[in-house]
Amino acid sequence: MNDRERALTLLRRIEGESLYASLVLQNDSGFVRTLVLGVLRWRSRLDFAISSFAARRIEPEILDVLRLGAFQLLFTDVAAYAVVAETVELAPRWARGFVNAILRKIASGKAPEPASVATRTAHPEWLMDRWTSFFGAERAVAIALADQQLSYPDVLTLSGEVPPDSVRSDLVDGIWKLHGSSAALDRSSWWPMDEGSAVVAAIAANAGEEVLDLAAAPGGKSLYAATRGRRVFSSDVSMARLRPLITRDPRHVVVSDGRRPPFARRFQTVLLDAPCSATGTIRKNPEIKWRLQESDLAAFSRLQRDLLTSALGVAGETCVYSTCSLEPEENDAVVAEALASNPEFELADVRPYSPPGVGPWIDGRVLRLTPESGADGFIVHVLRRK
Ligand SMILES: C[S@@+](CC[C@H](N)C(=O)[O-])C[C@H]1O[C@@H](n2cnc3c(N)ncnc32)[C@H](O)[C@@H]1O
Repeated sequence: MNDRERALTLLRRIEGESLYASLVLQNDSGFVRTLVLGVLRWRSRLDFAISSFAARRIEPEILDVLRLGAFQLLFTDVAAYAVVAETVELAPRWARGFVNAILRKIASGKAPEPASVATRTAHPEWLMDRWTSFFGAERAVAIALADQQLSYPDVLTLSGEVPPDSVRSDLVDGIWKLHGSSAALDRSSWWPMDEGSAVVAAIAANAGEEVLDLAAAPGGKSLYAATRGRRVFSSDVSMARLRPLITRDPRHVVVSDGRRPPFARRFQTVLLDAPCSATGTIRKNPEIKWRLQESDLAAFSRLQRDLLTSALGVAGETCVYSTCSLEPEENDAVVAEALASNPEFELADVRPYSPPGVGPWIDGRVLRLTPESGADGFIVHVLRRK
């Protein structure tokens, strides 16, 4: 199977089975990765170019081939004749004339520019509208453009070694940014972990000697805090997702629903890295933006409120509440409600707990690390018992 055939197969699996691109691509680097992530990243922009030349409704299997061709023509340096010749081959015989004609028109460079900023940056209109309303137009576009950058995994070093072809994170210690896939790295020395995620873990580690990680799976933040010498207890509702942590150190792992934590005592610090819409991680998981509906946010928000209420119940001194969502319903609103119904807690300033590199991303008492930083977006509130 050549790279384009493989990319098409993977794209169909990601879409058809609602899989995460980052997981499906774990063992692919180079051109396959560029093609799959590129098509997912630029989808609405590609569809705009395709539909400006296609007068009829396009079958999904043909549309995927056209998207693959349009991406190469609009966003790579591959010669247009090669793109057209190779991509047409991916289409069923009966559709090749049509695919050939559309790709040639796109290659001619006469596709109009999309009028809306959402289509230009290939994000859903509703998401750009809400980012614009709470971050302002300029930062909303910067976030959307950062989502469109090709990205590779970051890794936490567990051995002190420096991974090949990498640079040190300037946001947080212990994290290296790779320039390729992490497939070749030995899992006992390295743990794939975004630097934004490590920033959250560093904040929790700075908040207490003892950390209960209440939504811990797959376990990056727990592991990070453990590498900082913290006594860490990890809990998550999903046994399957906890498996990597259980394999490492089963003594401190508990499977439980965080809304009913089974602990008879408090922990100095509780980290609640809540399940969320993940709109801060679109750069690494571009498929998210096409799956998520604005109406999904309410259910996340309800679950987050319940989890934060129980997290405060077991927090002795501090509770670090984080999500990788940029949406206020999942962050500020959840915290405001928890503080209103738990007056024994107050919002602490995140700054004294934060690694120095994230200073520019602190907004009042809250860390709002957004993707222009190069890291996944995370919003972090620290709540402290009065
Ligand atoms: C954002 S992820 C956590 C990532 C993790 N902190 C890390 O750094 O590897 C959210 C987690 O919440 C878990 N979760 C969802 N509902 C939960 C619940 N009711 N109680 C506890 N955990 C839950 C999911 O299984 C998922 O692992």
